[in-house]
Amino acid sequence: MYVAIMGYGVVGSGVATLLKKNHEHIVKKSMQSEMELKYILDRRTFPGDPYEHLLITDFSKIVEDDEVKIVVETMGGLHPAYEYVLASLKAGKNVVTSNKELVAAKGCELLKVADENNVNFLFEASVGGGIPIIRPISQCLAANDIDEIAGILNGTTNFILTKMITDGMTFDEALLLAQKNGYAERDPSADVDGFDACRKICILAALCFGKHVYPDAVYTEGIRKITLADVDYARAWGGVIKLIAKAKKMEDGRVSVMVSPAFIQNHSQLASVDDVFNAILVRGDAIGDVVFYGKGAGKMPTASAVVADVIDCARHMERKKFFGWQDSEEGYVADYLETENTFYIRATTDDAAAAVAKFTGLFGEISLLARQDAPEGEIAFVTGSLSEKDLAEKLELVKDAKVESVIRITNY
Ligand code: HSE
Repeated sequence: MYVAIMGYGVVGSGVATLLKKNHEHIVKKSMQSEMELKYILDRRTFPGDPYEHLLITDFSKIVEDDEVKIVVETMGGLHPAYEYVLASLKAGKNVVTSNKELVAAKGCELLKVADENNVNFLFEASVGGGIPIIRPISQCLAANDIDEIAGILNGTTNFILTKMITDGMTFDEALLLAQKNGYAERDPSADVDGFDACRKICILAALCFGKHVYPDAVYTEGIRKITLADVDYARAWGGVIKLIAKAKKMEDGRVSVMVSPAFIQNHSQLASVDDVFNAILVRGDAIGDVVFYGKGAGKMPTASAVVADVIDCARHMERKKFFGWQDSEEGYVADYLETENTFYIRATTDDAAAAVAKFTGLFGEISLLARQDAPEGEIAFVTGSLSEKDLAEKLELVKDAKVESVIRITNY
């Protein structure tokens, strides 16, 4: 059986390495007589690379070669990954991808095309890197009615927040270190603005609740605005700040999906997930809460998930795996303004006593927080539960204090 890799970057080269390193074992697990890498598609050149002889720049070589039964897409981005994957599926090839942007935008369509062509489209590596999560949700937890899913789905932002919490670094200092360590890109927007986590929670929500969740329907807030003052107040409250992506089934059949920084209590299983690690909490009616934890990114952890999918494809050549979800209608994802939350608020003012009275009048009972060396005129507190819409309306009425931070509080 022949395999082709499209995209010879960090993950693609990890896949090639792993296919060779564990070749015998992988062939055996695949229940095939052989498994060989035939092509690697990439525009770049890799002089001296052990797979230099397999490198091609023309996609048609892959799609027109009937011997290639499994195509691994590790190019990233939407185009041309989408066109290549679509053409591969239509040509009757199984496709394995690590590309969350592709699955979040086009997963429903590609799963349908795979189904029509009696091949598999698998994407275990698209969420949580090497952490098994797609297969556990779709197979091991299949008996459960999953009601909610939440997690730390981005390693780069978790590294930055960890450095802010444990080493007192500012956001800018921690971002610089993340870039130096190779976690964050030069343009870190996909990570720090929450888009990467958003794509991943969309995939998980589709898998858990059965309908596609499009990323542009999801309220997404990153961590750029988090300051060390907020970190201190979270500590005073009894917790830490994490970037949380969450999805919850609503009683009326819609879903609530959001990505935002959040206060997490110290005793939560998610609070101790530090550095580049990811953790995903799944709440099922039979199992209760189950947490998946591990390396959410990186060359070999991600290759581990990709190659497992390659093995699964090889084993299911004649027996397509049942796997997929429906498309969703407009309004399936509820407007985030409907969501209820408790909130942490930090504000600065010339008259702290008057501001506290004003906020108490607006929110009812509030719990004030204190931190060491707080500048004069800084106040911070936690509200009771209210909707995002109510919060926005109430904050509009605040004229004598400047609201510096609003962070949601979770119960995970
Ligand atoms: N940039 C991602 C992260 C890599 O930091 O988690 C895996 O999607």
